[in-house]
Parts: sequence; C-alpha cells; structure tokens
Amino acid sequence: MIEIKNLAKIYHTAHQDIVALDDVSLSINRGEIFGIIGLSGAGKSTLIRCINMLEKPTQGSIIVDGQDITALKQKELRAARQKIGIIFQQFNLLSSRTVFDNIMFPLEIAQVPAKAARDRVNQLLEMVGLVDKAKVYPDQLSGGQKQRVGIARALANDPKILLSDEATSALDPQTTRSILKLLKDINQQLNLTILLITHDMNVIKQICDRVAVINNSRIEEVGDVLSIFSNPGTPTSQSFIKAIINKDDPEEYKHDLLKEHGSKFSKLIRVSFIGASAGDPIISAMIKRFDVDANILHGNIDRVKDVPFGHLTLELIGSREGVHQSMQFLQNNGLDIEVL
Ligand SMILES: Nc1ncnc2c1ncn2[C@@H]1O[C@H](COP(=O)(O)OP(=O)(O)OP(=O)(O)O)[C@@H](O)[C@H]1O
Ligand SMILES: [Mg+2]
Repeated sequence: MIEIKNLAKIYHTAHQDIVALDDVSLSINRGEIFGIIGLSGAGKSTLIRCINMLEKPTQGSIIVDGQDITALKQKELRAARQKIGIIFQQFNLLSSRTVFDNIMFPLEIAQVPAKAARDRVNQLLEMVGLVDKAKVYPDQLSGGQKQRVGIARALANDPKILLSDEATSALDPQTTRSILKLLKDINQQLNLTILLITHDMNVIKQICDRVAVINNSRIEEVGDVLSIFSNPGTPTSQSFIKAIINKDDPEEYKHDLLKEHGSKFSKLIRVSFIGASAGDPIISAMIKRFDVDANILHGNIDRVKDVPFGHLTLELIGSREGVHQSMQFLQNNGLDIEVL
C-alpha cells in the first residue's frame, strides 16, 4: 500500500544541513496498522510529513497505492492527499468552528455537495461517538473528544490511509486506550491502512501489527510486534521495551537469596515466556516432577496483542540434579531461561 524507497530528507538551514531521514526504505501492507517508534528528533514527523508531501523529500520515492507521490504535479497531489488522512498530537482543530463544522471542513475543500457532506458528517459523528457534541466548540471538549473530532475529520474524504503523528501523546493512559480502540475498530471496519508514529511502546503494543524502529534518521529494525517484543535486536528497541515491561529485578530480594537452604542447592533464574507456553501449569508440573521448590521473587506478565508475554524471576531450590533437570524441563517446554 505504501512503498518507501531510499528516502532521504535534508533540511538546509542557515547554519548547517540537518539529515532528518537517511536512506529509509519501508513497505507497508494494505489494511495493516504499522507503527514507527523512535526517540525525539529521530525523524518520525519528517517521515510522516513526507508521506503526505507536506515536506518534499530530498531523495527517494514514496509509492502510495501504485502512484509515486513524489512525482505528482500540484493538482494531482491535491487529489492524492485527500486519500491520506492525518491526525496530530495537538488535534489542530479550528476553535471558531463547531465540532460539526470542523468535520465538514475537508468536505467543503473537496467541494462535496452540501447535503451529501452533511450526511457524511453525521455518519462520522456516529462512528466516533460524538453525536451529542455536534454543536459544541472544541474548547468545550476533553482531549479524548478532541482527538475523536480529529479522527472524524481525517476520515471525511474516505481516505485509504490514516497517518497518526503522536495522536495519543497528550492523553492519559485510559483515554489513550479508548482512542487506540477506536483506531483499531476503524481499521477493521474500513480496511484502512494506518501508519502511526510514537515514542511509546505501549501504543505499539496495543494496536500495531508491525513496527519499525527509527533511530538517528535511519530505520534500525522492522518486524512484527510480537517478535520485536520477544527478541529486540538493537539497543534502541531493547530500551523501549525495557521501559514498559520493567525487566529489571528489584535489588532488595538479592539479599534474601544469601539465606541458607541447608544442604539444598539453589539457582536464581529468569524465565521469559511468550504465547501459549506462558503460565503456571509448566511451573507446577516442574515442582512435582523434580521435587524442587520455586520461590517466585518477581514477575511481570503482559499481553502483546492477545498473546501473553512476560517474565518470572524464580529461585529454584532442591537437589543439584533436580534443579538442573527443572531448568532443562522449562527449556524443553519452550521457555527462555537466563541464570542470574
Ligand atoms: N523544518 C525543519 N527545519 C530544520 N530542521 C528540522 C525541521 N524539522 C525537523 N528538523 C530536524 O530534523 C530532525 C528530525 O525531526 P523530526 O521532527 O522528524 O523528529 P521526531 O522524531 O518527530 O521528534 P519528536 O518525537 O520530538 O516529535 C531533528 O533534528 C529536527 O531538529
Ligand atoms: Mg515529531
């Protein structure tokens, strides 16, 4: 649906040239929710602004639905842009217009006949759950409601692609969830391709199918969300994931570990799991089978999309052989083990 090839963007300023994008190539499939995560200044907004040609790339091509948009003339570009909706962190609503008229705005620009436009706005208000706010002005809305207006406005001309530039960054976690759920619903109902950029791995985790990691103007890593979570391949992705699953074990319990276990043998391990192998049955089977104790010291279980994901820090206590066999057993059952 979107094919980005060797894209570069250099900003020429009075003092220096700033490379904002360096040889970026990405392929985004129709109907997927594709996330791009990166730190501040990595080049995310520049990339999204190139995709709807608010910014002209210095080099490379961007093919949207078979059409190279970097090669379009003004008039064709206007038509192509109508098929790409965009939502922003700061909503960018017109404060002097009601909710209804904000959503009407892009339809006016596209010169949609008045009756059809009004019907469309009503339909969109329904879709984003704001029917009762039609006559209200933006400053009487909460952040989440403002973003719903932003989404309705972005969808007015029935785009094939929705771009989202940190659309939930100004919202609290609960409102973020409701907006992400709305985006997911829209993606499924309309088979809309969504490209969203964020610096928050939680956003990626909640709705994206695939993710690209951008760092210092370059794409470092691309993969489906689950595999990036289970096997982050770069320091950048590792730090984003660490930030949300808190893999660091608290230091305090390490003191307790020095406690004697009599003649028993003990090992401290971290068990990471993903998917079906998650969960207690394996641990309890291990305890029975190898006559060991498992002291659970720390754990963190989360879901990436609908798949459980997380880790447990365990102290295994038993005979030397029992402990080693237990670790082998966990590994044989598809769990990842790290001896601490
Ligand atoms: N109009 C501009 N003129 C000059 N430099 C720019 C311009 N826009 C962005 N830059 C520079 O390009 C680089 C990438 O900026 P960009 O806004 O794409 O980052 P970002 O990943 O969106 O960051 P943030 O998460 O803070 O929004 C930065 O070094 C920035 O200073
Ligand atoms: Mg930005």
